Amino acid sequence: MPSPVPNDPLLQPYRLKHLTLKNRLMITAHEPAYAEDGMPKDAYRAYHVERAKGGVALTMTAGSASVARDSAPAFNNILAWKDEVVGWMRMLAEECHEHGAAVMIQLTHLGRRTRWDQGDWLPIVSSTHDREPAHRAFPKKAEDWDIERIVRDYADAAERMKAAGLDGIELEAYGHLLDQFWSPATNTLDGPHGGSLDNRMRLSLDVLAAIRERVGPDFIVGIRLVADEDMAGGLTKAEGLEIAQRLKVSGTIDFLNVIRGHIDTDAALTDVIPVQGMRSAPHLDFAGEIRAATRFPTFHAAKIQDVATARHAIAEGKLDMVGMTRAHIADPHIVAKILSGREDRIRPCVGANYCLDRIYQGGGARCVHNPSTGRELEQPHGIAPAGRKKRVVVIGAGPAGMEAARVAAERGHQVIVHEAANDPGGQVRLSAQTPRRAEMMQVIDWRGAECERLGVSFRFNSFADAEAVLADRPDTVIVATGGLPHTDVLEAGNELVVSAWDILSGDARPGETVLVYDDAGDYAALQAAEKIAATGAKVEIMTRDRVFASEVMGMSLTPAMRALQKYDVTFTVTWKLDAVTPDGNALVARVGSDYGGAARERRVDQVVVNAATRPLDDLYFELKPGSCNLGAVDYEALIAGRPQAMRGNPDGAYALYRIGDAVAARNIHAAIYDALRLVRTL
Ligand SMILES: Cc1cc2nc3c(=O)[nH]c(=O)nc-3n(C[C@H](O)[C@H](O)[C@H](O)COP(=O)(O)O)c2cc1C
Ligand code: SF4
Repeated sequence: MPSPVPNDPLLQPYRLKHLTLKNRLMITAHEPAYAEDGMPKDAYRAYHVERAKGGVALTMTAGSASVARDSAPAFNNILAWKDEVVGWMRMLAEECHEHGAAVMIQLTHLGRRTRWDQGDWLPIVSSTHDREPAHRAFPKKAEDWDIERIVRDYADAAERMKAAGLDGIELEAYGHLLDQFWSPATNTLDGPHGGSLDNRMRLSLDVLAAIRERVGPDFIVGIRLVADEDMAGGLTKAEGLEIAQRLKVSGTIDFLNVIRGHIDTDAALTDVIPVQGMRSAPHLDFAGEIRAATRFPTFHAAKIQDVATARHAIAEGKLDMVGMTRAHIADPHIVAKILSGREDRIRPCVGANYCLDRIYQGGGARCVHNPSTGRELEQPHGIAPAGRKKRVVVIGAGPAGMEAARVAAERGHQVIVHEAANDPGGQVRLSAQTPRRAEMMQVIDWRGAECERLGVSFRFNSFADAEAVLADRPDTVIVATGGLPHTDVLEAGNELVVSAWDILSGDARPGETVLVYDDAGDYAALQAAEKIAATGAKVEIMTRDRVFASEVMGMSLTPAMRALQKYDVTFTVTWKLDAVTPDGNALVARVGSDYGGAARERRVDQVVVNAATRPLDDLYFELKPGSCNLGAVDYEALIAGRPQAMRGNPDGAYALYRIGDAVAARNIHAAIYDALRLVRTL
């Protein structure tokens, strides 16, 4: 077991005013969208308390907690304009404090970064009439009475948070109202709030002065600010630095939390918060420059995923506090693991961005490979040992099978895994072949290392039949055999097409003019199209959906779109592939529409179909009659976290379950969640 780094820079305390933060790791503001009725209730609290227990020094709760009614919740934000928030935040702060973590909250007025058809249906407000492309709503221009009430709203919200016993607050000033006023790109006001930098900063300085008056000099107030918008017509680095200096000189703030870039489009947001396959810590040096120039407490987060990079940020004096936000979504116990010499066991954040992308689609933040996150109350992060040790045989070493093996072994069971291939990973291994998706393999590798530690026995190149499975006399059999690509979706010519997985695996060579028909909307079509287009082929992706790549959400789509547009791939929505016929060496694709558009044709030399997978379930059905539960799952027990007790066949020799894509094509999170919640009670 590696021992903790002696005098680890990350573990040194940091003094911010009167507050001693016990180490240098923080969770920056992020709205996981777990609020109920706009309040941080039990699930929300449990999420932060878990991370406090895990040793983080500071958790910046919420993310964009709304100070005003016309800052309507864009993603289930906490409503800091309600007095009711005080009680909920007090409970959250007290419980985190018990575990030694400081608690702050980010407050904001979203300005034009929300929509008028949320919340109270008030017009949204900004310093421009231009819409923000990401939220698409056209704002009113702020009048004097808007500004007066917004200044008051900020001060009221800050006072509520002080009353709740928080250690401080942070104002959000990147892409939101305060910096919409700062930026020449979004401030078209005349008069006292438009034109000069003095005028553009007036609102924020008035807000900060009003807050200070209300909370007094001791309460910690910081600002998360854009110090370079990095876009034509936006705030430059020089102006950003000037803003930072003026804020410091105002004497109203205690720390800067540095952001570089703009967030008004999905693509731009992805550069501020990089995802899988993008550079690690791309703005760290920039944040260090701001710290050096301002000589002021500086925080920062942006794809600092691993402890070594965080350590470097502190050791090199680039930051005072390092944000590892998604890293803590993936593993809440980072500091505890560093302290106990288990740094190598940290569940890695693989940058899949499933967490953040989901909140923009109205869901709660879910980690692609930690289903306990956000479900702390019903799916705790720890796995309890089983009362009776069993022999568990798992078939398939994709994400579902690997998680089943890990959890079963954590329970103390004896676990045997059969895998038909040479290596574990299943579809994840194929998907990770696109260099941009390579980080995905850590989902498998982390589980592989855990299984090894726990003594799981792997049998690779083992295409197990029922006889082989039963030879080990299992108490429980878990079929996690995944699925096979499905292409049988056409009226005619199914035999003439190849699957996206054929392209990714190399079983099919890319053609020169290719139609990729995407009837699943997931990554496979995009990856296949990119691999084909990279050879110089002419590629069109077509879907009958009204949106492109419907299952690949906003920020995750950015790197794929950049690659596909570079290769001049074309995108066709609302048209569907009906049939393919041969024509000499070429293929003719007949294209129709659900909307009644006249049929048309494409002449290509290859048609690739992506229609997800169909369960590989022969083994399951073979084993079903001999099982005591006949394969049945008690959903009530599964959801409630109770053990399975179905006994449709009392003479059966083993319990049988199937999980992941062996049941139906879903995604990695679903596969892992299937495994976790079933196996944790076995
Ligand atoms: C689910 C989620 C919601 C977020 N919401 C906010 C927010 O409301 N305000 C904010 O300043 N940053 C927000 N962020 C950004 C994080 O604070 C952080 O800057 C970002 O995740 C990059 O840091 P990381 O690479 O350590 O995760 C959010 C991030 C996530 C994952
Ligand atoms: S979903 Fe992906 S980016 Fe988000 S925490 Fe999990 S591993 Fe990290």
